[in-house]
Amino acid sequence: MHEPELTAMTAAPDKVIELAGVHKRFGPGAHALDDVSLTVHAGEVVVLLGASGAGKSTLLRHVNGLHRPSAGEVRVLGTDVAAAGGAQLRGLRRRIGMVFQQFHLVGGLTVLENVCTGALATLRGPRLGLPTYPRRVRAAALEQLERVGLADRRFQRADTLSGGQQQRVAVARALLQRPRILLADEPVASLDPESAAQVLSLIAALAREDRLTVLCSLHQVDLALEFAERVVGLRAGRVVLDRPVAGLARADAMAVYADAVHPGRPERAVPALAP
Ligand SMILES: Nc1ncnc2c1ncn2[C@@H]1O[C@H](COP(=O)(O)OP(=O)(O)OP(=O)(O)O)[C@@H](O)[C@H]1O
Ligand SMILES: [Mg+2]
Repeated sequence: MHEPELTAMTAAPDKVIELAGVHKRFGPGAHALDDVSLTVHAGEVVVLLGASGAGKSTLLRHVNGLHRPSAGEVRVLGTDVAAAGGAQLRGLRRRIGMVFQQFHLVGGLTVLENVCTGALATLRGPRLGLPTYPRRVRAAALEQLERVGLADRRFQRADTLSGGQQQRVAVARALLQRPRILLADEPVASLDPESAAQVLSLIAALAREDRLTVLCSLHQVDLALEFAERVVGLRAGRVVLDRPVAGLARADAMAVYADAVHPGRPERAVPALAP
């Protein structure tokens, strides 16, 4: 397929996600992103931390073009997201896998068919049942299920799986098209601690295998320190921390939440943490 963005990508193969001076305003007083600059390189596993309302989801939605910046630049896999037309955005999204807090599986379908739906964007027309997917899609789906350790559950209804298993199916679905980027918005917020750690370690391992770039929002600092290579902290739409996890003290990561725990306190200027 013709993908003009690839040309630009060849020029800067390592920078997968670039945000420069990005502002997002949803209206007066709703400044969700405030001068955010962030570069993520191929194969990096980056966790976004920040209190509720800090702008994590808004930032993720700029990467796949669900939001466009009010000001500033967003380049993803060589595509200028702010300027991209519909076809370019669809092409970009085919190279970006998504995982959500609520899994978003189709409960009444089998595990294998749920994974197959990850290919719908590249198939023409609706699919009604597993046999209506091309054989190559079914084979690729089974291969992804093997990677997340659930091939033996392939004919089970998705809504009969545990939460952790459902999220692993969602990861398999997201990886079906061999994306370059995986965006995960609080992928373990609905899981018990053990399943949460299992899902994140799986994502980190698959990312290493595929040299996948991962941008994942989390609310758990300890999980971020365990599974990320780099932590980006947002506070009120601003980047207040951007550091490799190696050598990052837990207290520094916790400082991202410093003012958020006192929402009633009058606002005051908070200096960005030292880089
Ligand atoms: N579509 C929208 N319209 C208006 N305001 C919005 C919209 N989306 C987000 N916001 C606002 O932007 C700010 C950032 O929201 P965002 O959802 O990105 O936060 P978050 O860090 O993901 O929070 P949480 O941890 O609760 O998911 C919030 O003040 C939110 O109310
Ligand atoms: Mg959010």
